[in-house]
Amino acid sequence: MTPDTSRNRARHGLAVATAAVLACSAFAVIGTANLSGRAAAATSNCPWVGSHAPIATRVREVLGNMTLDDKLAMVDGTGFSYGTAGYVGHIAANSRLCVPGLNLEDGPQGVADGVPGVTQLPAPVALAATFDPSLARAYGTVVGGEEHGKGADVNLGPTVNIVRDPRWGRAFESYGEDPYLSGQTAVGYIGGVQSQGVMSQVKHYAVYNQETNRNTPADDVIVSQRAMHEIYLPQFQAAVTQGKAASVMCSYSTINGQYACQNSGIMNVLDQQWKYPGFVTSDWGATHSTVASALAGLDMQMPGGSGFGTDYYGAPLKAAVQDGQVPVPVLNDMVSRILGEMFRFGLFEHPPTGSLTATVTTPAHAATGRAVEEAGTVLLKNAGGVLPLSSRRDPSIAVIGADAGSAALTSGGGSAGVVPPYVVTPLAGITARAASGSVTYASGDPVASAVAAAKSASVAVVFASSYETEGSDLTSIDLPASENQLISAVAAANPDTVVVLNTGSAVTMPWLSRVRGVIEAWYPGQDDGDEIAAVLFGDVNPSGKLPVTFPASLSQVPDSTAAQWPGTGGTVQYSEGVLVGYRWYSTKHITPLFPFGYGLSYTSFAFSHLVVSGDRVSAWVTNTGRRTGSDVAQLYVGDPASTGEPAEQLKGFQRVTLRPGQTRRVSFLVTRDDFAWWNNGQWTVTPGSYTLRVGDSSANLPLTAHVEVRR
Ligand code: BGC
Repeated sequence: MTPDTSRNRARHGLAVATAAVLACSAFAVIGTANLSGRAAAATSNCPWVGSHAPIATRVREVLGNMTLDDKLAMVDGTGFSYGTAGYVGHIAANSRLCVPGLNLEDGPQGVADGVPGVTQLPAPVALAATFDPSLARAYGTVVGGEEHGKGADVNLGPTVNIVRDPRWGRAFESYGEDPYLSGQTAVGYIGGVQSQGVMSQVKHYAVYNQETNRNTPADDVIVSQRAMHEIYLPQFQAAVTQGKAASVMCSYSTINGQYACQNSGIMNVLDQQWKYPGFVTSDWGATHSTVASALAGLDMQMPGGSGFGTDYYGAPLKAAVQDGQVPVPVLNDMVSRILGEMFRFGLFEHPPTGSLTATVTTPAHAATGRAVEEAGTVLLKNAGGVLPLSSRRDPSIAVIGADAGSAALTSGGGSAGVVPPYVVTPLAGITARAASGSVTYASGDPVASAVAAAKSASVAVVFASSYETEGSDLTSIDLPASENQLISAVAAANPDTVVVLNTGSAVTMPWLSRVRGVIEAWYPGQDDGDEIAAVLFGDVNPSGKLPVTFPASLSQVPDSTAAQWPGTGGTVQYSEGVLVGYRWYSTKHITPLFPFGYGLSYTSFAFSHLVVSGDRVSAWVTNTGRRTGSDVAQLYVGDPASTGEPAEQLKGFQRVTLRPGQTRRVSFLVTRDDFAWWNNGQWTVTPGSYTLRVGDSSANLPLTAHVEVRR
């Protein structure tokens, strides 16, 4: 493919980087208080270490002392390592110039890559289900703290790609189907990670929504500019502008015929529209060229070295610089962006001192994981108030399913998968919480033993799961047939059956009408059993909301043809355009199994008093039940039909905790951006009547107002 040289990065790149690092120089460095011996000894040769000069000045000084080889080493990884053998990505230190090495480690759910001694937090999808950016910040703070303790400088997360289809193998490590929810969750997470002095690398830029054919030309996404800007990019914009993520990882996708990491179209959005000052790293092995990548804006190749595909930087980049195909100012810009972030994070003064073998998990970190899971667990059905369990009404409990015992599924797989220090199984958690002697267990194999246990208990709780991992997509959204059969058999034996799901995304529920209760607990992390026991027994009132639509069957999804998913003849047609997730269901009047934003509580809520005043929209939320509980007020905007926009789009949300009978006012700021759509290359606000709806799911919006928007 001919490189697109229309974007001359050097033209404005360095100036942008300079201005932006200046703007960020107020960053508070958190970490080791003293210069390490290594850095201190060398400072006399390296006046930029410990200097208070503006970051741009320090970057210029380092750059001015660099040879071509020094610069090339800054933009190319030294190879891939795993576990305690080494970081998954590494940039070599330059001792002559006192530039510390840079260690990159996964991932979005905490320190991953097979490293022990860390906290296995709940899956990111559970975090998204909290609809709570402050919990996302707490979660990110744990991740950043543990990465720092392990000696990593760059955390490879969050994953903010949209769940375009529930079959995506990485749905569990993302924040769901809505760009606004995903962006705000990411901003919280990034703030937490970076508060620990660790850079956050938001990924995967962009339009990376399936594993099938990934990193090959056959995953060539054919997507409109409109869908790209409205659905697939806004969460990245939030991550880099609001969240100030230090780094962006470009993806394995091919986008409209061009690999992402050399796609000047999407790279230009970062630089020219968002004025992004940080650096772009390739996903591992996602670099496919030397000149085109450097000119497009790929600042760092990962993992580099040998043994992971072709090394396009290093020697080939040297040759391209020497023969002028990659101008020196372009290379300088690449290096400056990396150095600028290293100065912003104080790495010259405080190079990481942690080690991969250190134990970094703590009880406080585990408590954060429990708080997230308890707030992100979604109660989907509670017929006849079967939940919460009570020892008086439920003197005997049959706990059923392999997933309740030693096969408890607490994390998805791939680069986001985290090794737990221990796992509290559901059986252990429920047994510890229930009255002594009240719990029996049956794995479900044979089914007859589970049926017998269910028959002789007052209530049956069946655990079922489906495993997701990077590298492969699911072929269906059905639970394994044996699990569906087990649930049906148990429900036939005991009408008081509750199903707990441990899945990364939507699943079908052919037995739904025959069970009384359903809970979506995602992949809950190491404290699985204690968390689910707290929800089942009502110590915690469930308040999670679905960050993805649960379709009734695959025939309902917006990308139901093979041309759309997983693609045919070398292309993946995103012909559903902007109608992704609930935007599709509400616009097409399709009733899914459970809608986006939905989740029940052991209490009830009412919405009233919608008021639009200037740029503020407010409403009252009242707890009309008998228990303290939390609800998430959600604001959706509907544009005039002439725009062709979806029927409704999430533009605000607020979690509130209320005592019985208590009322609180929630308030949302609505700006011009909330009414804009991507119209032929620019954001446009079409004059007309806009609808504002408030409620607590995309399908339960009892309050409506109309506002007239003039040009
Ligand atoms: C994944 C990234 C990950 C990287 C390093 C890639 O295969 O797509 O998300 O950060 O590997 O492990």
